[in-house]
Amino acid sequence: MSTTPAAYVHEVFPAAVLEDGAPEPRTEAWMQTVNQGFNSEAPTAEAARRRAAWLVEEGAVLRAVHPVEGREGVDGLGRPVATFVRTEGTVNLGGAELVPARMYTSVTVRPAHRRRGILRTMMEAELQAAVDAGFPLAVLTVTEGSIYQRFGFGTAVRSRSVTVDTGPRFALHRQPSGRVESVDAAWLEPRVGELFERFHARTVGSVTRRAGWSRYFTEADGETRARGVRAAVHLDDDGTIDGFVAYTAKGEFEARELQVHELVAGSDDAYRGLWQHLAAIDLAATATLEAAPLNGPLQYALVDQRVVRTTEVYDDLWARVLDPVAVLRSRGYGPLARAAGLELRLGVRDALGHAAGVFAVRPHADGVEASRVDDGAQLELDVSDLGALLFGNAATTLAAAGRIDEVEPGAIALADGLFAVPGGAYFQSHF
Ligand SMILES: CC(C)(COP(=O)(O)OP(=O)(O)OC[C@H]1O[C@@H](n2cnc3c(N)ncnc32)[C@H](O)[C@@H]1OP(=O)(O)O)[C@@H](O)C(=O)NCCC(=O)NCCS
Repeated sequence: MSTTPAAYVHEVFPAAVLEDGAPEPRTEAWMQTVNQGFNSEAPTAEAARRRAAWLVEEGAVLRAVHPVEGREGVDGLGRPVATFVRTEGTVNLGGAELVPARMYTSVTVRPAHRRRGILRTMMEAELQAAVDAGFPLAVLTVTEGSIYQRFGFGTAVRSRSVTVDTGPRFALHRQPSGRVESVDAAWLEPRVGELFERFHARTVGSVTRRAGWSRYFTEADGETRARGVRAAVHLDDDGTIDGFVAYTAKGEFEARELQVHELVAGSDDAYRGLWQHLAAIDLAATATLEAAPLNGPLQYALVDQRVVRTTEVYDDLWARVLDPVAVLRSRGYGPLARAAGLELRLGVRDALGHAAGVFAVRPHADGVEASRVDDGAQLELDVSDLGALLFGNAATTLAAAGRIDEVEPGAIALADGLFAVPGGAYFQSHF
């Protein structure tokens, strides 16, 4: 058999279910290959239905790759040898409107078919499809850090995992307003999507939450109904719910560890209040959260900031600019940058061509002007680093790392001023 991509056929189709709710055969075969690719246990029939329903709900478009010869495979089941899925969502870049984005995940290639260019063929086709559909941005999360930069993706948001000592050392400088009440997890479950929207609208770096994101309410290990998920909500002074936390208590009875599945705050008081609630839970020693902001307000809110221990820092969200003019125009800029009315011209390299060129951006008091210009780049950078800059990664840092070249003196400082995200971008809907 030939080892070139031409030896493979790509099928692109919307996820679908049968009348009885079971995944339709092509969707089912695709799901099986994804499970295998991530070494996950095969789901029960019930879990497979639920997952297929989520894919349908979010309008997921699946890509399944089959060999032209021997399509049925040795086992005769005809499962694809490679998978990819796209959904559509929005990204908060601090502007007046959320920015539409294609979201990619479930990227797998079976071991026997690797390094033959299947991923490259899938990715190039998907990026072209996103451009054709008018998406200015594509985003993904990764399991390995060295794969996606070649396709123009840059590290947009870093996150950290934290373990917080919820014992007597936990004390806030100032009491948050409003109050926190415990609620039944089943009551909260249908409300989390709406509460997330509030967080999404106020948080630079946030990305649409995929359907089924809160599967921790219903699944443990993809199987049974998860037991022991506990929940609480924060209510503001008017009694409006503006945040929630969902967690499971694990470990020894007297010193439980609270594993926080999600802490979603639609206000600063909700954020501090929900953490304080976790700390007030008896018989628990710590609370862990996998996706905390890299430099969020929690440690500043504490009398003893060492109560927060970072256990891991990782690249979380990756972004790929497809239309620089559109993203530069729809991105938010701080009041000082707008008042100054300064222009920056960015020379962008893009091996795939989509975002290559010189682009000028000038935020001002009444809006933002962005356009393609002929030349005069003050900075030169790869499209992957434009993705990083847009989410507030400092131009100074990227230049020190040898990634951005300053053509005109002062341009790095200008980029720092324009693209700063005070407090840092935060993304908590890993997909
Ligand atoms: C990662 C994976 C999708 C790559 O698929 P593939 O079809 O073998 O990749 P390709 O042959 O198209 O290679 C595309 C490029 O990526 C590079 N590449 C592929 N896998 C890589 C890896 N693991 N690390 C670094 N580079 C990698 C190739 O060298 C090639 O580079 P080039 O085109 O610039 O010469 C595949 O190995 C896989 O399924 N792994 C397990 C699941 C996984 O990790 N998925 C990623 C989820 S984020």
